[in-house]
Formats: sequence, C-alpha cells, structure tokens
Amino acid sequence: MPESARRSFVGGNWKCNGSVAEISTLVKMLNEGKHYDTVDVVVAPAAIHLYQVKEALKVPVEVASQNCYFQSSGAWTGELSTEMLVDMGLKNVVLGHSERRHVLGETDELIAKKTKKAIDAGLTVIFCIGEQLDERKAGRTNEVCFGQLDAIKAVLTEEEWAKIVIAYEPVYAIGTGVAASPEDAQATHEDIRAYLAKEVSQKVADATRILYGGSVKAANAAALFAKGDIDGFLVGGASLKPEFMDIIKACAN
Ligand code: PGA
Repeated sequence: MPESARRSFVGGNWKCNGSVAEISTLVKMLNEGKHYDTVDVVVAPAAIHLYQVKEALKVPVEVASQNCYFQSSGAWTGELSTEMLVDMGLKNVVLGHSERRHVLGETDELIAKKTKKAIDAGLTVIFCIGEQLDERKAGRTNEVCFGQLDAIKAVLTEEEWAKIVIAYEPVYAIGTGVAASPEDAQATHEDIRAYLAKEVSQKVADATRILYGGSVKAANAAALFAKGDIDGFLVGGASLKPEFMDIIKACAN
C-alpha cells in the first residue's frame, strides 16, 4: 500500500483538563473546523466530559476514552468498561499512554489485557509506545518500543491489527515543548513499520497508521507530517488551543 493510501489521523488528548464551559468552547472550535473529509480526527476528553462532547459534536470527529478496563462490569471502583464506552456510541480508546505507564504504573501485561478487551468490543485502540530519555541515550529506543509492541502482538490476531493505531511518543518530548526532530521521529517510525512487517505481516505494516506524539504544534506539524512514515499525530497541549485546527490542516490532502 502506498503511503498516500493511509488516511491521515489526528488525535487530541485532552488529558485531565477542562471545565464544562471550556470543553464546550473546544467542541465549538471542532464544529467550525474543516478537512474532516481527508483526516480522521479523534478527541479524547476526560471521562467526565465524554458524554457532553459526544452529544455536542456535529461534525465527523470521533470521541475516544482515555482509558478502559478489561472487566465487563462489577466491583471495579473508578474503572470504565468497554461495554459502557460502546453503549455511549464511542469507537476509540487510548491505551498505553506514557502517563499511564510511568505515573500510574500500568504494566505491559495490563495494557495488553485492556487492548485485547477493547478490540474484542470493536473499539479502535490508539496504542501509545515510546522510550524515556535515558533509554534513548542508551541506544535502547527500538528495544523499548518493540517490547511494548510485543505485549500486544502476543494477544492480537493479524486481522485485529486493523483496529490499532500506533502513537509513537518519545517520553522526553511529551509536554516539554521540545519535539523529536522530523528525522529522528521518521527513523523510529520506519523501524516500527519494519517491526510490523517482520513480526506481524507486510500487509499490516503497510496499512497501520503510525502517529507521532510529543510537543506537536502548528509550527512543527508540517515538517513532521512530510516524513513518509508519519501518518498523523497524537496532540496533547496544543489540542486544547485553536492551533489544533492548524495541525489538522497540516495533515489534510
Ligand atoms: P503534548 O502531549 O502534545 O502535550 O506533548 C502529547 C501526548 O501526551 O499525547
């Protein structure tokens, strides 16, 4: 599949941000936006705002949960089941984010269980991977990223990879204002695609969208997106600002 056959994808990870009024301003911005015909746009509000955003969106922008659990229902205080997400009409969930891995202590094993459950429920998983600065400095970027991918490879069939969007987010670039250079990002994206070709299949390698995340802004989006293996972005801080619309535009055909 030529690079151009992969539809661009831009995710907005709103993290633990926003009041009801601020979320309503963001939805208004999205409702006035363009380029949804050529770019898949998905926003991930905090759980408490999911319903508000889902109800207020009038354009083809999808809503993602920032988390889910691997149990269907029951005594799991504070968790969201995939059944609840599907019942609300959601189609996407973000899993494996570095803040869940490194701040909340989620393991590869837990993330793999959640990923499998989400895929079984028919959700698309925005699956985040990425190395920390000391790992990069030690030349362990691929080892870390491939290890994170191995955990889901072990539980997914080849067909199920169609529901995975990979977000490569070097941890040192998240929220720091310093993105990876387009060259460094492309090199890792290329290695991730080669991993998919070798470990899953060429078909999956060709079809899987690999997003870059970590201090993406309107100012650096075009240069990053110009790289052949960067199919879009997962945007944190800038997704809470009007420049999110410029990032979407940078990924439009
Ligand atoms: P950032 O966050 O754009 O604020 O660096 C990216 C992310 O955590 O997904």
